Amino acid sequence: MEKIRWGIIGAGGIADRRAIPALLEDKNNEIVAVLDKAGDVAKMVAQKYGVKHYFTDVEELFKTVECDAVYIATPVFCHKEQALLALEYGVNVFMEKPISLNEKEGKEILDAFKAKGKQLTIGYMMGFHNLHQKAASLIKEGKLGSVNLFKMQFSCWYPEIAGAWRQKKALGGGGCIMDLAVHCMELFMNITGEDIEKIKGFFATRTFGYEVEDTAVITFKSESGILGHIDVNFNVPDSCAPSRLEIYGTDGSIFAEGTLGQEEVGKLRFLYAPQGGYEAQQIRTVTKPKSYCGKGANIYTKQFKVFGDIIKSGKCDYTCAERALRIQALCDEIYENNCY
Ligand SMILES: NC(=O)c1ccc[n+]([C@@H]2O[C@H](COP(=O)([O-])OP(=O)(O)OC[C@H]3O[C@@H](n4cnc5c(N)ncnc54)[C@H](O)[C@@H]3O)[C@@H](O)[C@H]2O)c1
Repeated sequence: MEKIRWGIIGAGGIADRRAIPALLEDKNNEIVAVLDKAGDVAKMVAQKYGVKHYFTDVEELFKTVECDAVYIATPVFCHKEQALLALEYGVNVFMEKPISLNEKEGKEILDAFKAKGKQLTIGYMMGFHNLHQKAASLIKEGKLGSVNLFKMQFSCWYPEIAGAWRQKKALGGGGCIMDLAVHCMELFMNITGEDIEKIKGFFATRTFGYEVEDTAVITFKSESGILGHIDVNFNVPDSCAPSRLEIYGTDGSIFAEGTLGQEEVGKLRFLYAPQGGYEAQQIRTVTKPKSYCGKGANIYTKQFKVFGDIIKSGKCDYTCAERALRIQALCDEIYENNCY
């Protein structure tokens, strides 16, 4: 396989804004077809990127154009049907997060891909951010000592928009938990390499008139006992909500700001001060941190490169999809046991 021939399914949102430019940044990718339910969007996006074929019907795409992979970036309620259709035509799938509306659907998708030996990857790209990889390596090298607490804050402003699929439970599966908290759960698993064993959440719709949650606080416990906290909101102004990631260990801590998102930006400070005996004076001379910055690379390009390498190897790697399925199960659990 020289270049990976990609079809795009759901072209108007994140596909046009981030994914297609990211795919084209790597000369190993070629886009051979663009599809969108809205014909004008399919045509506009195809013309913008010089793609000859555009469609509104998924089956017609597969019958007309040969693809090695498709990138699916449609509303969550479309994921299962479109992924399984791609599989029927023997096409590898890179699908946007979350994997599906619920765990049951996600399992059906993943089991089908495993049975047919085709690659399925879900678009959790934040682990490719250089600062999140820095956090992971500091932990792995033991620089934080024993990690005890992991906190994440990720919010945006998402008011009522007529026809928005994310604001309907049946179409998006939920609100800020399905949209934002899933990234935080993935980041925790990605950075620590641990599963989340127990999870509980409070959520509510406080500000907007839609039916899904616009605010949520989640607490969890990992397999080794790390305690975690996630808060996500759709009702905090964008300019007042730089994301936060805090990790506390017995020898050091990490504070990252502005790193959760679509760009490799933000800052990370690492404080290191292994303690001796008890210091009754409690004089807090703050340790001088080591500071690191986002490098500005394209995190989407990096995730597509990993996907491309997998399909070129002729083998499948379901690590990412399995993690996405686990995240889905955790979301189901939070929704089922709302602590109100
Ligand atoms: N990883 C990320 O950074 C990121 C960011 C945003 C969205 N997403 C995910 O990407 C997916 C799409 O989100 P979005 O924000 O781009 O949504 P969007 O609504 O902005 O765009 C979706 C596009 O799909 C089209 N579409 C709708 N139904 C379709 C169907 N049945 N068949 C074909 N096309 C259809 C729409 O016309 C639209 O052009 C979701 O799963 C979302 O969670 C991921």
